[in-house]
Amino acid sequence: MKRITHRSKELLGAIGALAGLTVVGIALAQMVPLPTHPLDSLTANDLLTKAAGNSIQNADQVARGQYLVRAGDCMSCHLREGGEPLAGGLGLNTPFGVIYSSNITSDAQTGIGSWSSDQFYHAMHDGKGAHGEDLYPAFPYPWFRLTTREDDDAIFAYLKTTPPVNYTPPPNMLPFYLFRSAVGGWNLLFFNTEDFRADPAQSAEWNRGSYLVNGLGHCGGCHTPKGALGGDKSKQQLQGGDLDNWIAPDLTGNNRTGLGAWSTEDIAEYLKTGRNKRAAAGGPMGDVITYSTSLLNDADRRSIAVYLKSQSASPEKSASAPDGDAMKRGAEIYSDACSSCHFEDGVGQPGLFPPLGKNAMLQQSNAISVEHLILAGTRIGTSPTRPSPLSMPSFAWKLDDQEVADVATYIRNSWGNKAEPVSAAEVGKARKKLDLATSRLTDNSGDH
Ligand code: HEC
Ligand code: HEC
Ligand code: HEC
Repeated sequence: MKRITHRSKELLGAIGALAGLTVVGIALAQMVPLPTHPLDSLTANDLLTKAAGNSIQNADQVARGQYLVRAGDCMSCHLREGGEPLAGGLGLNTPFGVIYSSNITSDAQTGIGSWSSDQFYHAMHDGKGAHGEDLYPAFPYPWFRLTTREDDDAIFAYLKTTPPVNYTPPPNMLPFYLFRSAVGGWNLLFFNTEDFRADPAQSAEWNRGSYLVNGLGHCGGCHTPKGALGGDKSKQQLQGGDLDNWIAPDLTGNNRTGLGAWSTEDIAEYLKTGRNKRAAAGGPMGDVITYSTSLLNDADRRSIAVYLKSQSASPEKSASAPDGDAMKRGAEIYSDACSSCHFEDGVGQPGLFPPLGKNAMLQQSNAISVEHLILAGTRIGTSPTRPSPLSMPSFAWKLDDQEVADVATYIRNSWGNKAEPVSAAEVGKARKKLDLATSRLTDNSGDH
């Protein structure tokens, strides 16, 4: 947790500056957090996939609950580095401090073993803890609210069968004005109190997709932009969100920045394997693939894809033209440092090294993901069908700020891409924010 403690200090500094604000209950902004832990945590995957005992009376309900736990990506947040699956303790970085996930194993003392199904339903549906206290929306209850009582009961039945782990997560690191009582004010402002209602004008498949995307899947938690106080900008649903040094791209029908050019099959394949002929899932999406979408069935992945394909295109944003010299320098750096994997003309090797031409992720107006990837590297989320994590190496030690900026500008404006140029100052800022002390050389980086 060293990394998180370190980062949280900066955040708390920023909060000091904000403390003059007298509004209470604000600022639970950008709650969706970025888990960081190893992707090859086998026990976590075992727990998510091993058949949960046939001999018990409610075996069917438990199996359904296990499936829904995958759909809700509970593991990505309720697992800390080196910890037991679902025992929590992962520090979630929010712009306002660090919030630790709870222990949701069946342990009666420190987990939810002694909860009633009503208590569990109130947590999932209303964001209330066992004693009626407000839970922070870092726990995605604003989305989970759409889940039916029957599904919540199944999840609860499954969690009751998980091995009990006696463990209490550390206390949160938040400023005083964000104590639990402030959440009530936030809920009043932003909590959508409607339950899920199927749209009779749409197909059953679309409605299932809507239920998963807007409910358990909480895709908008990352992919919908947030206002200053952390509420969803609901008119911009799925138009792309700002995370902690990543961008969750536009998922609307926009041809350049969104999924306009992707087919339903492209989306379903990406959700299953973390890759397809257009892109690869790194950063926080890697965990979503590993612990959630790769473990769903094909029908549900297709429903999600069908729903996403129905989202009308986000408005086109203009971008300034890149500087000719920067493009020239960028092309040389690309040829030296990148073309060995992504090939000349950015064609990549679909399924292995993502193609960079007409790549939506690259063309988001905010370039932080691209800077992050080049500086720190990342790896594709693993899945049962693609168990080996392919990595993008870190270039922080090899390229200076100007060089990263030039190559980023170049790839954002080549092979059919068009996006705002990147400046060296911007890269410098990103370099400071990222924890680059850790060595990220990888087996396939060619750097050994
Ligand atoms: C994005 C991260 C995230 C995801 C995904 C997530 N949780 Fe949590 N969860 C949290 C955090 C953080 C808390 C602690 C909130 C607090 O302390 O106010 C929490 C708290 C809870 C609690 C309250 C426990 C208590 O002791 O009060 C329950 C129950 C819970 N989560 C269940 C789940 C289930 C079930 C899923 C999957 C369907 C899930 N969570 C997915 C982050 C997450
Ligand atoms: C924890 C935050 C988070 C959540 C939750 C999340 N995503 Fe993502 N998603 C991302 C990030 C970050 C990326 C960019 C990945 C990259 O740059 O490699 C991404 C990328 C994607 C892409 C590829 C877009 C492209 O243009 O390359 C798709 C499709 C996608 N997500 C779908 C979903 C769906 C469907 C859900 C809900 C089931 C979901 N995501 C939930 C963070 C998230
Ligand atoms: C050793 C092979 C290798 C080299 C060299 C390499 N990459 Fe990558 N790159 C990858 C892999 C593997 C991925 C997929 C990982 C991911 O998206 O998480 C990737 C992903 C990317 C992505 C994200 C694409 C998407 O759809 O999510 C960008 C952008 C990128 N690389 C740019 C570069 C640039 C710029 C350079 C040179 C400075 C470079 N890469 C050098 C292997 C490489």
